[in-house]
Parts: sequence; C-alpha cells; structure tokens
Amino acid sequence: MENGGLPNGDVASRPVRLHRDVRLPDDVEHIDQDAEYCSVFADGAWQRIRFHDYRRIFSIPGLYEHLFHDLLDCRSPDVVAKLLKEELQRDGVAAHSLRVLDLGAGNGLVGEQLRTVGAGELVGVDILPEARAAALRDRPEVYDAYHVVDMTALAETERAALAAPRFTALACVAALGYGDIPPSAFRAAFNLVAEGGWIAFTIKDRFLSEADTSGFARLVSRCTEAGLLRVRTSQRYRHRLDVRGEPLNYVALVGTKRADIPEDLLG
Ligand SMILES: C[S@@+](CC[C@H](N)C(=O)[O-])C[C@H]1O[C@@H](n2cnc3c(N)ncnc32)[C@H](O)[C@@H]1O
Repeated sequence: MENGGLPNGDVASRPVRLHRDVRLPDDVEHIDQDAEYCSVFADGAWQRIRFHDYRRIFSIPGLYEHLFHDLLDCRSPDVVAKLLKEELQRDGVAAHSLRVLDLGAGNGLVGEQLRTVGAGELVGVDILPEARAAALRDRPEVYDAYHVVDMTALAETERAALAAPRFTALACVAALGYGDIPPSAFRAAFNLVAEGGWIAFTIKDRFLSEADTSGFARLVSRCTEAGLLRVRTSQRYRHRLDVRGEPLNYVALVGTKRADIPEDLLG
C-alpha cells in the first residue's frame, strides 16, 4: 500500500519520520505549540491527535513517552529534578524529608524523577481521570496518593485532603499556561505548601516575558517583589523540539516559599 501502509486520509498525505506507529506532520510552515499534532495508528486506523489532547494521549499506553521523550527529546522532568536536587544539597536538606505535591502530574514521569532524587512522600494531582489511570497503569509505585481535581475549583473535602499532608514542596512541570494550569490553580497549589517549602516549576520562556498574556509573568514577578517567593536558581533550557525540529525553550525555576499568595495578587 502507498504511504507505508497508510489508508487515504488527511493525516496520511505526507508520510514522514515514521517511527513505530506515530508520525509527525512534515508540511507545517509555522505551527503554534498549542496547535501541534501527530498521527497515531490506533484501533486499526490513523488518527490525528493534538499534543494538548492529553485525554487521548494518556489513554494509549506508551504514547506520551514515545512522542514527547523519544521523538521530541523532552528534557523538562530531568532538568527540574536536577535543579531541585542541587538546591537541596546546597542547603543540606535530605530529599527523603520532602512531602511533594506534583501539580499536573500526568502519567507520572515527573514523580518518577522525584523518586529518583529521593523524595519521601509524593502526591499527584491532575484534572484528568485519564492521567491518574495512566499513572497507576504505568508507574503504580510512584505516588502515595493521586487525586483527580480541578485546582481552580477545589471542593472543601478535596482542599482538606490536600491540606492534610502539609506539603513541603511543590513541583509543576510542563503544565503551566496554554489551556492547562492557569495562575489561579498555581496559586491554590502554592498555598498548600508550608512556609519555607520548596517550589520547583517549568514554564515556557514567553510566559515569563513582557509579551506574556497568560498572567504568569505578572504572577511570578509580583510574588518575588512581594517576598512570597524567593528564587534560588533559574535556568533557560530546551524543553523539547517542536514538530519542525526547532527548539521550544522553557525556564526552570527553583525557589522557596515565604508566604501564601493572596487572591488579590492575581489581579
Ligand atoms: C504536558 S502534561 C505534563 C505532565 C507531567 N507534569 C510531565 O511533565 O510529564 C500537563 C498536565 O497538566 C494537567 N492539567 C491541565 N490543567 C490542569 C488543572 N487545572 N489542574 C490540574 N492539572 C491540570 C493535564 O491534564 C496534563 O496531565
């Protein structure tokens, strides 16, 4: 069959970079990160799947790792875990003493890295039941608990369950901005961490620039100016490649929490 065994269809017109059963589009001039997609052979047919359609991606075992890590060389979980480890060592803090909230935990790749660093207690949260199911399916040993919640609208019982561990660290990797986690959800998670706790996150570099429209540039600068977040280290790095092979640059930041973020700081 033509096209390497592909049936006719829109996503099958340009067979490129075939790697197992995932194809990246080859005919895109420019495509925003939010619109990127791939074609996946699943259930007997090629299907177009948006990168940000995590519901579908997590439902196919191995697809998230294959797409973002094997094909697009995603480095974010490694980078943030390494930076956090270095800062803990600098302060002589034992990683096993940490109780970490992993915000936007997905299928557990970040949790896995945090366990490698030595994190003692680890709780994942994600808005998608498919993410929790994938984490339990792929990495059942990683999380002590994993809650499916919308951090922008926590029920009182959910808030109480998340307040109980008295977290001493927050990790949030590759999950801020776009249609994912908004500033209000980040604030809710930040405020679940005890004062003096560790804050480690990654974010697209543009979302910390003057051109930002996500609200994160303002949130982070107001938090640092108001002394709520003390930045210990930050690093611009290549998060992953885009579908054209161009770098997508993010910033990883590790700091310590000094106080809660008040609601009016979100503006
Ligand atoms: C790109 S994935 C990152 C997963 C993981 N942190 C990693 O680096 O592999 C973004 C995750 O954020 C989750 N997410 C999006 N909005 C959310 C929200 N409001 N509350 C909690 N999780 C959310 C998505 O469901 C998805 O699992």
